[in-house]
Amino acid sequence: MILYFSGTGNSEYVAKRIGNETEDEVLDLFDKIRTRDFSEIHSDRPWVVVSPTYAWRIPRILHEWLEQTDLSGSREIYFVMTCGGDTGNSGKYLKRLCGLKKMHYSGCSSIVMPENYIAVFTTPSKEEALEIISRAEKEIDNTARLIREGGIFPQSSPSLKARMASGVVNQLFYPMVVHAGKFYAKDTCISCGKCAHVCPLNNIRLENGKPVWGTDCTHCMACICRCPSEAIEYGAHSRGLPRYTCPK
Ligand SMILES: Cc1cc2nc3c(=O)[nH]c(=O)nc-3n(C[C@H](O)[C@H](O)[C@H](O)COP(=O)(O)O)c2cc1C
Ligand code: SF4
Ligand code: SF4
Repeated sequence: MILYFSGTGNSEYVAKRIGNETEDEVLDLFDKIRTRDFSEIHSDRPWVVVSPTYAWRIPRILHEWLEQTDLSGSREIYFVMTCGGDTGNSGKYLKRLCGLKKMHYSGCSSIVMPENYIAVFTTPSKEEALEIISRAEKEIDNTARLIREGGIFPQSSPSLKARMASGVVNQLFYPMVVHAGKFYAKDTCISCGKCAHVCPLNNIRLENGKPVWGTDCTHCMACICRCPSEAIEYGAHSRGLPRYTCPK
């Protein structure tokens, strides 16, 4: 079974592509994470977890959900991480998670997709994004083929930089960077409620028709990028940048 979490659609696209190629079931974890549903799920076929990369590891909310949920049936598990550039030494932490769950780690494949982190980096135009995705297609096919054949994803040994990024930098990233305090909605907000609806942590409520952010944010970028009137900004950084959602 293919499980995915996705803020802006890249991981959803890759999960569905792998699902097609392997003729396996695809499950969106959004509702389960949002409602904190950790009830057992079962698959006789190997598990495949597709996710974005947040500070060179899988998102914490997904890691916690995996820790707490009983995945019964197959003991094989693959990880596929979409990223804007690289996934560092994320495999080390995924391997450790598999040990805790008594599952067999079958490797982590990195797929470079368009950058979605509009709060910190520059997001691509639609044309640039399509170009990046077309370059990713071969890697998605190779990843799906290895899963279909029951192979193991090849792993290279991590550099010191990668170990630092997934280790100490990841630890500092959440307390230092991941906050919702800089989000605000402009007057162009049409009070549609979509931002509240797409938040995997239920961190947004509407007050007098306008969004108000709470303190439980994981910086998935769904609210700012999925607002139909582009009314949300993140401090000054997001001004003028294209809102990114996977164009496929
Ligand atoms: C909070 C956050 C942290 C990120 N950290 C990384 C990173 O460490 N390395 C990287 O290559 N891309 C990073 N990215 C980019 C995303 O992993 C990438 O665009 C991903 O494909 C988005 O997937 P999604 O559309 O399924 O949410 C980050 C994005 C966000 C929102
Ligand atoms: S998604 Fe955008 S337009 Fe809709 S309520 Fe939120 S900020 Fe307003
Ligand atoms: S507040 Fe926005 S960025 Fe934060 S978790 Fe919710 S949807 Fe994602």
